[in-house]
Amino acid sequence: MTFITSFRQIFKKKTPSCKKAKTADSVMSSSQVVIRSVATDSSGSSRNGYQFKFEDGRRFHANDEISYFLPNDDDETDRVHQQHWILRYALQCNYHAPVTEMLEEGINVLDSGCGPATWVFEMGETYQRSTFHGVDAACVFPEDIKPANVELVIGNVAKNIPYPDENFHYVHQRLLFLGLSQSDWDGALKEIYRVLKPGGYIELVEPDLLDLHNVGPLLKKLQDTLSSIVIEKDMPTKVGSQFVDLLEKTGYVNIVLKIIPLKLNHTNKAGDLLWDDYHHGTINMRTVLAKVNHEWEDEDLFKEFVNNCGVEAKTNETCINYYVCYAQKPLE
Ligand SMILES: C[S@@+](CC[C@H](N)C(=O)[O-])C[C@H]1O[C@@H](n2cnc3c(N)ncnc32)[C@H](O)[C@@H]1O
Repeated sequence: MTFITSFRQIFKKKTPSCKKAKTADSVMSSSQVVIRSVATDSSGSSRNGYQFKFEDGRRFHANDEISYFLPNDDDETDRVHQQHWILRYALQCNYHAPVTEMLEEGINVLDSGCGPATWVFEMGETYQRSTFHGVDAACVFPEDIKPANVELVIGNVAKNIPYPDENFHYVHQRLLFLGLSQSDWDGALKEIYRVLKPGGYIELVEPDLLDLHNVGPLLKKLQDTLSSIVIEKDMPTKVGSQFVDLLEKTGYVNIVLKIIPLKLNHTNKAGDLLWDDYHHGTINMRTVLAKVNHEWEDEDLFKEFVNNCGVEAKTNETCINYYVCYAQKPLE
């Protein structure tokens, strides 16, 4: 059994909620193993000092310098984990930059904002001569079991990626559009530039979630509510369309941008899977969205609304554009 196979199987098992756990580790019986060592006491502080806060029954990070506003409890962590497999299926790959040969030979790679580190783990398993590092603002990744070529650390990628200059051949960053303000994007791209070796590659992947294609009135209402939160936090609403300018401004060269439309709840299995993730992610954002649109404080009403959004997406053949962009730090 490969590490990834065992990790997939392990991850299917539910861990006790960190909120409820009294001990530092979620320990399971016999052949089962500890899979999450981030557990909190009732004050929300974890074994390693990392702080969480609880609102409306969901767990969030408690770092004032981080703009990310999605929860980071077990259910959301499971969703982000599963989202990786869905995106790999829909995009038919884990990366787009021309780094395959380098990965096979052995390079140093960073995943910026790695979440539960699913991309890092799978890449680490696939390219065993390379070394993979993941950095995330929240301690949502497994700390104790990981492949020998994987290291995971906590850090704010917009302020300081905790690695020396010119350390990585390739930096990958995906799905941080609800985490970085406009100035955070500038900071993160500068930090990535600093830690990249000359000639090293950056790859950015973000969906255009706030500008869906063939959007109907229900999804538009959801999109507008989310947009108002994003704007209030000074985050870009269409960061994918800014990629080329942002990368050029920071000094990157050889920029390649691909826009890939993915189907939402229609046409094929990828469409169905993408809807599963969109549905789950939206349900997990309810308490945040309800602060703007109070009718969604009613959980049942919101669930019905989101289900109707799914029917609308199918009828209208709604699509989400994924922006994939890679570039290089100049050699000189
Ligand atoms: C939707 S998850 C994506 C995880 C992973 N990149 C993936 O594609 O599976 C977004 C992650 O970005 C992290 N994040 C948000 N702002 C961050 C920041 N300023 N520095 C580091 N991580 C950040 C969050 O904690 C969260 O784990």
